[in-house]
Amino acid sequence: MYTVWIKKAEDLAQEFFKDDASGHDVFHTMRVRSQAVSIAKEEKADVKLCELAALLHDVSDEKFHFTQSAGKEYLNEWMVTQNIPSDIRNKLQQIIESVSFKGGNGKQTETLEAGVVQDADRLDAIGAVGIARCFMYAGFHRSPMHHPEQQPRYNLTEQEYRDNSASAVTHFYEKLLTVKDMMNTPTGRRRAEKRHKRLENFLDEFYSEWSGTS
Ligand code: ADP
Ligand code: NI
Repeated sequence: MYTVWIKKAEDLAQEFFKDDASGHDVFHTMRVRSQAVSIAKEEKADVKLCELAALLHDVSDEKFHFTQSAGKEYLNEWMVTQNIPSDIRNKLQQIIESVSFKGGNGKQTETLEAGVVQDADRLDAIGAVGIARCFMYAGFHRSPMHHPEQQPRYNLTEQEYRDNSASAVTHFYEKLLTVKDMMNTPTGRRRAEKRHKRLENFLDEFYSEWSGTS
């Protein structure tokens, strides 16, 4: 049955994210899916459950609905329509609810599968792809790419995280550089270390070009 649900979830994600230019286009979902499958295999987690959860992970996100419960209800109705049994529906909800970053205030993951999918989503926020998403997001929200006097804020509330006042470079300090220490699985952690170095290298080069010294 997973094969059918996975195909249907792919169609849902295609439709749901078709007009997004804010960093959550459908390719984000597809990258999280392949990353989740790859980590799940290494970590000996339930691969199909992780794959399905990854495909659905942003569909119920609060930011695409009026309220958190509306998002949850939307996902639940879709799962019921697909005849997904209640035990699997509950597992999917549990994974998906613990994935989102929410300014660092997200839930601690409680199962291996939730850890895998959260790691996959977080990896997509760092490294080369994460840098590209960060600048796209800043452009979309008309934030500057860099403001030399802006100080990063730490321990943000979810509201502060969402207020879009940070420049793209400030966002590195408020989120991207913190991601590697929040990984759940050994595989995720290893991959995050590599991507973290790419962030650091990028910043070094950015600052040296900004100041006119290279
Ligand atoms: P998630 O779905 O993981 O909660 P977000 O909606 O917080 O992700 O962010 C989507 C993408 O936009 C991520 O790559 C994130 O790092 C980036 N982003 C979020 N806030 C900002 C910001 N203020 N400036 C630049 N990029 C941002
Ligand atoms: Ni995501």
